[in-house]
Amino acid sequence: MQAQPHDQSPQSPSHGAHHRFFVGPPEQFDRSAALQFTLLTCLGLREYHTLLDIGCGALRAGRLFIPYLLAGNYYGIEPQEWLVEAGVQDEVGSDLVRIKRPTFRYADDFSLSAFGRQFDYLIAQSIFSHAAAEQIRQCLAEAKKVMLPTSVFAATFRQGSTNYTGRDWVYPGCSTYRLEYFTRLVEDAGLSCRVLTWPQPNQQTWTAIGNEQTLARLPRSLCDPELAKPVHELFGDSAGLPWAERLAIARDELAAALPPGATVIVADEDQWGLGKDLSGRRLLPFTEHDGQYWGPPADDAAAVREVERLRQAGAGFMVFGWPTFWWLRYYVELHRYLRTRYRCVIENDRVIVFDLQD
Ligand SMILES: C[S@@+](CC[C@H](N)C(=O)[O-])C[C@H]1O[C@@H](n2cnc3c(N)ncnc32)[C@H](O)[C@@H]1O
Repeated sequence: MQAQPHDQSPQSPSHGAHHRFFVGPPEQFDRSAALQFTLLTCLGLREYHTLLDIGCGALRAGRLFIPYLLAGNYYGIEPQEWLVEAGVQDEVGSDLVRIKRPTFRYADDFSLSAFGRQFDYLIAQSIFSHAAAEQIRQCLAEAKKVMLPTSVFAATFRQGSTNYTGRDWVYPGCSTYRLEYFTRLVEDAGLSCRVLTWPQPNQQTWTAIGNEQTLARLPRSLCDPELAKPVHELFGDSAGLPWAERLAIARDELAAALPPGATVIVADEDQWGLGKDLSGRRLLPFTEHDGQYWGPPADDAAAVREVERLRQAGAGFMVFGWPTFWWLRYYVELHRYLRTRYRCVIENDRVIVFDLQD
């Protein structure tokens, strides 16, 4: 079976980092984990608290929360057992699982109360962004049962101009909700919510859900939209910057990392407008024909052939600009090929650079 990004199939191919592809853009795997962990600690999570990770997936966040929390304090619910197993094997390690004794429940009915206890913190990152309204209602109703008056539930959803009216989980792809509608779903469950200023790499919005008094005590910098920019800057999050400003940072990063005289493949869907030269580095478009950009590759095999052809022609580096980050999810085999053969020398939300000389 080919590893599809955001693949919903229950079987796990035993090779590679398929579990990372399943839960979202793999280039954001580590950053998303850091953002979840830091958000909760800014919201007051300490090692003696209990945490319920709803849709814990491949333990992207669990690999930071499990070591941090005291033994027995991490709980995860997830329908795909193989994902958690891959997370234990490849991200957390069985030694830590033995020491920290996380509890997992495999279910798709948001049966949070089946753990038979209450939690200080809950997190649902990239769950409501795929869920139908009825599923969100179910999750919130269950969350209410397992929350203390002081509990905080951090959840993301994807804001849009329309509300998803389907009844099914959306994957790959996202369901969207208007903020007013999402707020109503929360209030119908007897809870309140606040939009948080926290960055989310996939255009989702973070919210804190809880009772009104608890939310009123949250740090102001996490709730005040005026402070969103400085908070995002803390994480080197440039997605919200004007295009030219973001590109200027990317250019500087490339100029610092690529040796003068290098030949560099640039995949940017011809959107960056860098031309053929970057301060003495020769730039080749990807794909290339007679020196011109020739559109996206037809398929994985064509993409790999094109990388190797340009490599034979002297290219020593390959750059993906943010306009083509989706290629790394779409051309799964190209991505696997680059990751397994070549060293990634820069990876952030502007550029990903592979050294093709290794
Ligand atoms: C985009 S991934 C996010 C995973 C994880 N929260 C993270 O940040 O890496 C969505 C996760 O939701 C899980 N999921 C699907 N249906 C679910 C349900 N009914 N209840 C809980 N999780 C579900 C998927 O299996 C997948 O692991």
